[in-house]
Amino acid sequence: SPARAATDGGGPPRVIAHRGASAYAPENTLAAVDKAAELGIRWVENDVQRTRDGELVVLHDDNLRRTTDVEEVFPDRAPWRVRDFTAREIARLDAGSWFGPAYAGARVPTLEQFVHRVERHHQKLLLEIKNPELYPGIERQTLKVLSNEGWLDRSHLAGRLIVQSFSADSVRTVHALKPGVKTGLLGTPPVSDLPGLAGFADQINPSHGSLSLAYVSSVQAFTGPHGRPMEVFTWTVDDAATAQRVAGYGVDGIITNRPDVVREAVGG
Ligand code: G3P
Ligand code: CA
Repeated sequence: SPARAATDGGGPPRVIAHRGASAYAPENTLAAVDKAAELGIRWVENDVQRTRDGELVVLHDDNLRRTTDVEEVFPDRAPWRVRDFTAREIARLDAGSWFGPAYAGARVPTLEQFVHRVERHHQKLLLEIKNPELYPGIERQTLKVLSNEGWLDRSHLAGRLIVQSFSADSVRTVHALKPGVKTGLLGTPPVSDLPGLAGFADQINPSHGSLSLAYVSSVQAFTGPHGRPMEVFTWTVDDAATAQRVAGYGVDGIITNRPDVVREAVGG
């Protein structure tokens, strides 16, 4: 099929479970990692933020309201920003009930806990540094946690870890601190920026709505900081038709809340 033929190396794109298998379990929880593993999905994406006392936790929003019961537990603490709560306070919150009663009691994991679970399932991690402008030094701190967990050794660096961000500064910083780490820049930068970005970003990771065959080919024509063609992972694709369209453009990865649907659509 054109989807297979156009893809790097002739294989189907990698399938990455967005915030875990987040259509089926509460996003960015250990349950969502487990769900991805149950479905046989090798790659998990997450989002990292920082607490008031400097712990890294896995949560998409910079605010606890949407995905936890923080308003009930701490009614006087509006506007409920992650950075205004300690790790101990956040550990008390229920991050599963909003999704469904079966997940009552799920917690906001620390980055350490999340990485542990990914390791236990022998999965691979696409880690997003979220809102780095709110958290000075979060790049160094993220690398420290990964190092402590054994994720900066040769085998993890060779193919099990990618660190991405919407912030080019943040991606540049990760590359400068630890050049062996594979990196991705989220968004759709103009093709004229690619020569500069290729100095520190192994991937350009755009929303599927902004994608075209020409754009994917332009990115892949550049050589990234590790001497390999730059790659494209696109997000967030949850239906078979869109998955087949972007696979036809030759993307290297598809980030999805429904990894079973995408895998079925593109093979792999
Ligand atoms: O991994 C890409 C995607 O997660 C970026 O958008 O808002 O879901 O973090 P967002
Ligand atoms: Ca993300």
